[in-house]
Amino acid sequence: MKKRLEDCPFTTVILAMSADGKIADSSRSAARFGSLNDKNHLEQQVARVDGVLFGAGTLRAYGTTMRVMQPGLLDQRQQQGKLLQPIQILCSQFGEVDRQSPFFRQPVPRWLLTTAAGSDRWQLETAFERIVVAETTTGELDWWSAFQQFKQLGIGHLAILGGGELVASLLAEGLVNEFWLTVCPLILGGSDAPTPVEGAGFLQATAPRLELLEVKTLEQEVFLHYRVIQSGGFIERPN
Ligand SMILES: NC(=O)c1ccc[n+]([C@@H]2O[C@H](COP(=O)([O-])OP(=O)(O)OC[C@H]3O[C@@H](n4cnc5c(N)ncnc54)[C@H](OP(=O)(O)O)[C@@H]3O)[C@@H](O)[C@H]2O)c1
Repeated sequence: MKKRLEDCPFTTVILAMSADGKIADSSRSAARFGSLNDKNHLEQQVARVDGVLFGAGTLRAYGTTMRVMQPGLLDQRQQQGKLLQPIQILCSQFGEVDRQSPFFRQPVPRWLLTTAAGSDRWQLETAFERIVVAETTTGELDWWSAFQQFKQLGIGHLAILGGGELVASLLAEGLVNEFWLTVCPLILGGSDAPTPVEGAGFLQATAPRLELLEVKTLEQEVFLHYRVIQSGGFIERPN
């Protein structure tokens, strides 16, 4: 399988963090510290994409996903010929997800990205419109296969809504194109509190490098827009 970024969706990671770089407190509860401005910003970004990807840890923390609610944004999607709601893609290696979660009652299209073992758990269920199976020979999630399947299924632009474990995996694979990070005015601290990128981390010498595209300040929050510098060149953000 050839690993070509043009065969994958363009990806935008969108996260809110404390001024000390934490995306949740040490109890790993849902992050509710962003302002209404940040919620609007997130909704605007979500309104631009074809699909939204998030990890099972994020679903466990929030119970629901971010959907487009503002009439103006829904109109905009309709005019652009997009589905009214982006496809909400839950990523879980083993598919151990609570079927009673309010997420399954939200009026959104739902897909599951998982391995063969995870897929087996949901075969008799109608909770997901589609189950995308992408597995390496060692039973891990195969991100390149997953992203190539997403693109073939019509997802040109994908928002990644966390958490840190998912973002770390995608960054390590070179599959993140850009970040929107909102810096919020609080300090969470604590070595157990998650950050935008979990996992083993990167060494300085080989760490992914960013280019600052845009900075917005709105009341007490700073919105940072970065692109990830890819060794294979620059990929245009879809309109
Ligand atoms: N501030 C913000 O904007 C923001 C946004 C989102 C989340 N958060 C916070 O982030 C925390 C959750 O993040 P997290 O890092 O713990 O979890 P996460 O990345 O949301 O989810 C981790 C789970 O997703 C699946 N997964 C992710 N990467 C995988 C990979 N490479 N291979 C296989 N499966 C993979 C696995 O599911 P299975 O275990 O089911 O196999 C894994 O346990 C919560 O505290 C939440 O509040 C904050």
